[in-house]
Amino acid sequence: MDITILGIESSCDDTSAAVIRNGVMLSNVIASQAVHEAYGGVVPELASRAHQQNIVPVVSEAIKRAGIDKRDLSAIAFTRGPGLMGSLLVGTSFAKGLASALQIPMIDVNHLQAHVLAHFIKESESDVRQPSFPFLCLLVSGGNSQIILVKSYKDMQVIGQTIDDAAGEAFDKCAKVMGLGYPGGPVVDRLAKEGDPKAFPLSRPHIPGYNYSFSGLKTSFLYLLRDEIASDPAFVERRKNDLCASLQYTIVEILMDKLRKAAKDLGVNEVAVAGGVSANSAVRAAFQEHADRLGWNIYLPKFSFTTDNAAMVAITGYYKYQDKDFCGFDAAPFARVTI
Ligand code: KG4
Repeated sequence: MDITILGIESSCDDTSAAVIRNGVMLSNVIASQAVHEAYGGVVPELASRAHQQNIVPVVSEAIKRAGIDKRDLSAIAFTRGPGLMGSLLVGTSFAKGLASALQIPMIDVNHLQAHVLAHFIKESESDVRQPSFPFLCLLVSGGNSQIILVKSYKDMQVIGQTIDDAAGEAFDKCAKVMGLGYPGGPVVDRLAKEGDPKAFPLSRPHIPGYNYSFSGLKTSFLYLLRDEIASDPAFVERRKNDLCASLQYTIVEILMDKLRKAAKDLGVNEVAVAGGVSANSAVRAAFQEHADRLGWNIYLPKFSFTTDNAAMVAITGYYKYQDKDFCGFDAAPFARVTI
């Protein structure tokens, strides 16, 4: 019998719905929220209001594009956390309403696990290239920087994580002080292409194990700008390509140093990357370089699966469905939860 899962994602500022049948994606609709750009960051109250406006049309469109009837659905998977409470509540409440009307089970999904399992979304039956267990996944986004040892679809262990800022936050905060807008990561990536990555040496953390820290780098970047602007007010404008290239180079070096150490210590050769920062061209180039030099089998997500999307929620739901791992209709969202 077919297993057809509707996924709903509303953890931050993207409202998304997707349909996956037997592991193959039939639709993935994402409505992003431009309203936050003017504020230089996500405004939680505005995010939850926009989710309320978007959720019905986004879900209808996902069902329509999948070419199914809602009565064909086997279950509804929704992001339960982590995320913004007001945003999570919209997706959770909608999932409850629809699941109870259709009298089908609900599946709660951890947003971080979903990012990892995005590597198992098939876009067609012939799409078979997937990581094999155990593999390491570098999860890098605006809110997380983690190294995860993935032993199976449901057995994941965080072996390293940031003790302060996330990698995406480092990109965004440094971009903000250069006046590059929000989110700054993609802008830094674009400007870095014309810059010298060794132009400005920036601070790197010295912490044990596989943990990360980006606050020292952020502070050293801020002090560099402050000192240089004091004698040359046009410094940022004049050197922004070199600044972006140096920042990006340092962030990627920090990420790869720990990941390489983990892969070596654990003897794992299958290495994946997930989350918004996995769209970064230098991250992708570094993965390719490690594949060529160290023989890693690397897994880079398609750009449409790097940022928040419901296809990753639906694929996670698909695996949980096979274990009959359902949640009750009383499930409340979790703003903070780990893998
Ligand atoms: O996973 P994601 O969509 O959601 C959050 O965790 O919020 O990640 C968003 C993050 C932002 O920090 C954004 O600046 C960063 O991913 N990002 C990038 C690139 N594209 C998105 N950072 C660097 N280079 C990029 N090309």
